Amino acid sequence: MRLLVRDLAQLATPAGRAAPLRGAALREVEVTRAAYVLCEDGRIAATGRMSELGPLGDDVEEIDARGLSAIPGLVDCHTHACFAGDRVDEFSLRAGGASYEELHARGGGILSTVRATREAGDAGLAAALAEHVGWMLRAGTTTFEAKSGYGLDRETELAQLRAVRDAGGIPTWLGAHTVPPEFAEQGADAYVDFLLAEVLPDAAKIAEAADVFLERGAFDPDQARRYLTACRDAGLVLRLHGDQFTESGAVPLAIELGARSVDHLEATGPAGVSELARSEVVGVLLPASALFLNRPMPPARALVDAGAAIALATDFNPGSAFCESLPLVCSLAATQMSLTPEEGLAACTVNAAHVLGRAERKGRLAPGFDADVVLVAAEDWRHVAYHLGGPVVHTVIADGKVAWEGSA
Ligand code: NIG
Ligand code: FE
Repeated sequence: MRLLVRDLAQLATPAGRAAPLRGAALREVEVTRAAYVLCEDGRIAATGRMSELGPLGDDVEEIDARGLSAIPGLVDCHTHACFAGDRVDEFSLRAGGASYEELHARGGGILSTVRATREAGDAGLAAALAEHVGWMLRAGTTTFEAKSGYGLDRETELAQLRAVRDAGGIPTWLGAHTVPPEFAEQGADAYVDFLLAEVLPDAAKIAEAADVFLERGAFDPDQARRYLTACRDAGLVLRLHGDQFTESGAVPLAIELGARSVDHLEATGPAGVSELARSEVVGVLLPASALFLNRPMPPARALVDAGAAIALATDFNPGSAFCESLPLVCSLAATQMSLTPEEGLAACTVNAAHVLGRAERKGRLAPGFDADVVLVAAEDWRHVAYHLGGPVVHTVIADGKVAWEGSA
């Protein structure tokens, strides 16, 4: 099974083989003009200039890519895509002035999605997730992570993880998202006891990583440490939701525990920036969430300049970021966080693949990598970030096959 994408105006890929990329290396994008990509059996067999393309023989499907450019399939390393229902009513209330934290404290917010997700059943949940995965694919995402955290009981947490796995996603166990109503009286410590005793043993068989919401009103650093340490002992990679509203010790805890990433960072100050920069922990930035909640943007420029490894993701979820588009996230990165299109591209391809433990296979257009390719509807690939909210995704190739073709 061979697929040749020919006559591309540009082929753009993060340079080099290292991951995660930091500092000046984050800006190094290799651009080949008048280019081709040859896919074979789900992998990239070759890339290069059309003038160097030798005879291929028969049996090759071709895509005429004149007027288009190619970038690696996008990697969304932080989503909550496995949810039922929506929160459009809450969105209207927030638009009129109510705050996200107020709604959460009143039993709305995350808990209203928990109610809908518990009621959906396996088939309902799979159908909702399939719809969301379709949206992500049309936005150019060929690899996605999705978290549980809308079950908060044993059965629904495991159902969410299975649904993500079965939809081709990479499941993260976010049992410690918030304290469910069943534990309202006993509190967060008792809920963590329950999670570790009753859910972790099975969650660890399905999920690749564990995540916790470390925040005022959710889990404190001691509870987060206890949860994450047990998850690490069960073989899971560690992630944290940290410094979203308040700086509450997520960065030092992530470093102490050797977490793969700490995500959000809207409230991180200069000390957190330099600590993170000296560590191996990736800062996952979620500008669509900051925009959606009208919060300050995370200190992306300072992080990159200090030498931190960063990734960009959507945080796609019904409450704080009803947005599945990584191209839009790249536009926000460029316009709101002073990241160049090149830095944005590396952050949602190779560095995001590193967060998901897949940097050897995903996030670059190079021989041996998975044949996941986005054809951008412009001759200059930087339109991905430049065309704010525009129809930039022309065609999506996943595993060497056309997975979506736009009408552009
Ligand atoms: O990353 N902050 C916690 N969790 C999600 C929001 C989930 C929701 O509102 O449903 C986030 O923003
Ligand atoms: Fe999140």
